Amino acid sequence: MPLPPPLPGRHIAACLAACLGMAALLGGCTESQKTGSPPVASERGAQLFKVRCAPCHPDGGNVINPRKTLHGGVLADNGIASPSGIMNRMRNPGPGMTRFDQGTIPDSDARLIAEYILATYR
Ligand code: HEC
Repeated sequence: MPLPPPLPGRHIAACLAACLGMAALLGGCTESQKTGSPPVASERGAQLFKVRCAPCHPDGGNVINPRKTLHGGVLADNGIASPSGIMNRMRNPGPGMTRFDQGTIPDSDARLIAEYILATYR
């Protein structure tokens, strides 16, 4: 009876560690300590996010730069803690992200998207 092929044990262990680390990262362990009215996920904000942002940020992730997701704890670590912080990123994106100017997404819609992100991805 032939032996089963040797398991690539070390690889699996490394992979598991990476996945667990990622899960902890994406889980977001920081509670927002800001006071004031909490952001609301509106229907329109969700729709706009789906069309404009989800191609690169599915489920609040980031398919291009996995260290720059839209989860609350990650945003906070990267200095973004408010709707205006997110809106600012749409106007002045980092490398690899599309720029969304006033003509493409007016401030009122940009704010709905930002609030949707803050309310949805924690
Ligand atoms: C073409 C792909 C792409 C699209 C479309 C896109 N993004 Fe990004 N986004 C990126 C990349 C790449 C980064 C990391 C850039 C950097 O280094 O700051 C990023 C970073 C961000 C960040 C900072 C995240 C962090 O943790 O620092 C925010 C906020 C953000 N995007 C919001 C949006 C919003 C809102 C939309 C839709 C209006 C959007 N993005 C659409 C690719 C994209």
